[in-house]
Amino acid sequence: MRKYSSFPTLFPFLLLSLLFSPSNPDPDLLVDYCVADTSPAGQSLHLNGLPCLDPALARPSHFATSILSMPGNTAANPLGFNVTLTTAAALPGANAQGLSLARVDLAGGGLVPPHAHPRASEVALLLHGDLLVGFVDTSYRFFTQRLRPGDAFVFPRGLVHFLYNLNPVAPAVAVSGLNSQNPGVQMMPLAAFRSDPRIPEVLKKTFKISAQDMHRIQKNLGGLDTGLV
Ligand SMILES: *[C@@H]1O[C@H](CO)[C@@H](O)[C@H](O)[C@H]1NC(C)=O
Repeated sequence: MRKYSSFPTLFPFLLLSLLFSPSNPDPDLLVDYCVADTSPAGQSLHLNGLPCLDPALARPSHFATSILSMPGNTAANPLGFNVTLTTAAALPGANAQGLSLARVDLAGGGLVPPHAHPRASEVALLLHGDLLVGFVDTSYRFFTQRLRPGDAFVFPRGLVHFLYNLNPVAPAVAVSGLNSQNPGVQMMPLAAFRSDPRIPEVLKKTFKISAQDMHRIQKNLGGLDTGLV
């Protein structure tokens, strides 16, 4: 009994410290989902992000990469863009730092079609070219801007946005900073029309289109879903 005798006097302070103690939310997922594996086999290791190297083995080169120095090949992409991202594999020193960089190459007239990053806000800096960029917020308001070299533009986290090269012949290059090591990308046209398996009935009803329209759109989007990061 003696042991707990100070409890009544301490109680208000305990309550206050509980109320005002900093409480941290759960860490954000670095992947789309993490389905619980409750089977005994699920004891194998699945991490949210990559495990840390023994600090004694860290080298300066782990914090450096040259992958952004090389232009991506835009020729193979039907919309004329190529995105090079500093993944944790390419830049191990960025693991768990909550950031990545993306080099966006656009051919003349190239377009990064409407897409969203579920885990990151993005700020794009135009290095050279003539870009039209824009995003739509959750009240469907459209924010757009024409960028000159040196201009930067923010795409808020999770919102649908695009980058469009207004020059029909000259290429454009932008570099984007993203506040996740795995921003994720969801291309709107692919999410709607080239999911696996397809969702035809729902789309026909949503857009009031025929089966022929569906197939034409699906065919038009061919090639866009290969080699995306
Ligand atoms: C982007 O460019 C790289 C480097 O040229 C190339 O290996 C890759 O296949 C390209 N990706 C697409 C989707 O065209």
